[in-house]
Parts: sequence; structure tokens; C-alpha cells
Amino acid sequence: MPAPATATADEIRSVNARYHDGAAADYDAKWGIDYGEVGRRQVLGKVAKALGGARRYERSLEIGAGTGYFSLNMLQAGVVADAVCIDISAGMLDTLQANAVRLGLDVATVACDAEELPFEDASFDLVFGHAVLHHLPDLTRAFAEFRRVLRPGGSVVFAGEPSYHGDRLARVPKRAAAAVAPLWRRAMRAGPAPDDSGDGAAEHHALEAVVDVHAFTPDTLARAARAAGFADVRVRGEELVANWFGWANRALEATADPDEVPWAWKVYAFRGYLALQELDRRLFEPRLPPAIFYNLMVSGRAPGP
Ligand SMILES: C[S@@+](CC[C@H](N)C(=O)[O-])C[C@H]1O[C@@H](n2cnc3c(N)ncnc32)[C@H](O)[C@@H]1O
Repeated sequence: MPAPATATADEIRSVNARYHDGAAADYDAKWGIDYGEVGRRQVLGKVAKALGGARRYERSLEIGAGTGYFSLNMLQAGVVADAVCIDISAGMLDTLQANAVRLGLDVATVACDAEELPFEDASFDLVFGHAVLHHLPDLTRAFAEFRRVLRPGGSVVFAGEPSYHGDRLARVPKRAAAAVAPLWRRAMRAGPAPDDSGDGAAEHHALEAVVDVHAFTPDTLARAARAAGFADVRVRGEELVANWFGWANRALEATADPDEVPWAWKVYAFRGYLALQELDRRLFEPRLPPAIFYNLMVSGRAPGP
């Protein structure tokens, strides 16, 4: 849900920093972020899709890198040689560095705003991000910065951005799951979720309403990239039935005591999601318009050699 129209750009940035600082410690567990085989396959699949195949980048900059999902998996796979990660949340970058140490990886982190990058012109071969553009108050300024720090011929890629129409379509399975949740809990022999109104949960939910600034149409994303001077701009859609399946399961699970959801159900939900992602990739993504997918991915190239 987009931020209230009354929030200023500075408020949106400051709430983003606070909200993500608070989310950092549990972020990987909450979103199932993986730095092994599964995570690497997911990340490399998206990168290959966006860039039309695999190649190696000497120096990359990740915007809104969070706990390191993309950069750390790309470093492990050898897709980038030298990775720099920025984020407005110092807490997320602390978790990223802890993950890097655990994996034996070397990565530079800088806490700063995507719209004001503390780097020289033309200093990266690849600028990318995952699930970050929708948090940025001034998309035009951000894309101008991405273009400024990219070398001529360098690539820009942003994936995992919420799609305006895809989000509306995904509300149908979410609502259907909420309606059948009591029956599902009975079938799973799981009790209802414990009351989470204490422990700052109300404040956390209030912040959540401010951090998300945009849901995009393919056109808004393409226009922002072209306005900054990027060439070969392409927008693709990702995740349709996988997303409906994933959100329906999340909506069901959110109503139950997490300790009482059977392990077999969790395995079924995870494997089902991966199988449907493959179906989306092979069958639906090449044939259906990007606007109806849940996530959008934009890519382009800085003009030059
Ligand atoms: C949804 S999380 C995604 C994190 C990571 N890219 C991933 O896919 O797991 C969005 C990230 O963007 C960061 N962020 C939000 N606003 C930002 C800004 N103005 N500049 C830089 N990073 C920002 C947040 O702190 C957060 O870590």
C-alpha cells in the first residue's frame, strides 16, 4: 500500500531507515532468504533473465542491498568480482556484513540514500537492486544517480518491484485464503496465531504503511529509466501463479500458531512455490503482458561502448 500523500520525502527516508533497522535481525528468516544452492539459483535466474545471459562484472553496486541476498549470492557464484552495497538502514548492512563474514566473502558497505550516492562518476559496471525502487520518494533523481555512477556500456537492473495490477490480482487468492483459514487450521490441527498486538507490533505496522511509496506499471518504470538516458530499456513481468500460491499459503499460515503448522505443510508450500515459479518462467512470462505479473523487472544500458 503506498505511503500516505502527507508524508514528506525526508519522512519516507527516515521511516525506511527505522523500519528496516528494526527488521534486520529476523529479515532472512522471515523471507526465507538463502545463501546456499537454492538462493543462488533464484538470484542467478533473475540476473540472467534481466541481462539476457551470464557474464562477469568487475565492479557492481547494489542499491538497497538489505542483508545481502543478491550481492552475496552473486559473489559466491563469481558473477561479480568486487561488490559494493549501499542501504539507508545501517542495521540491514550490519546483518549483511555478518552474513558475509559467515560465508567468507569480502564486500564493501556504505549507509547512504539511493538518491545521493557518494561515488565518482562512471565507477561501476553494473548497478542493480531487488525490491527497493518502490521505497524511493524521487525515482527520477535516483535513476539519474544510477546513470551517473555507471560506466558507458554498463548495465542497470532492478527486479522484484511491485506491480500495480499484479498486486490487485493477488488480492483475490489472499482473500479466499483468509475466508477458508479456520477450516484449514482445523485440517492442520493448528491453533490460532498468538495475539501480536504487544511488543511494538502496532508501531511496526504503522511504519509499514509509510515505507512503500509506489506500485508500478511497466510504463512508469520504463519512463523513469529512459528519462535518465538509459538505452535498450526493457520491462518484464515475473511470478503469476507462483505468487498466488505463495500469498494464499502465507495468508493461511499467518492465522495459525507458527509452532503448530506441520513441517510437511511447510515443505509442500515451499516446493509447490518453486515448481510454480518454473511454470511461470516457461509458460506464462514469455506469453502474457508484464502488467499482470506480481513483480516487475526493469533493465537498461548506459549508452557508450
Ligand atoms: C524490501 S528491502 C529489500 C532488501 C534486499 N534488496 C532484498 O531483496 O532482500 C528494501 C531495502 O531498501 C532499503 N531502502 C529503503 N529506502 C532506501 C533509500 N532511500 N536508499 C537506500 N536504501 C533504501 C531498505 O532499508 C531495505 O533494506
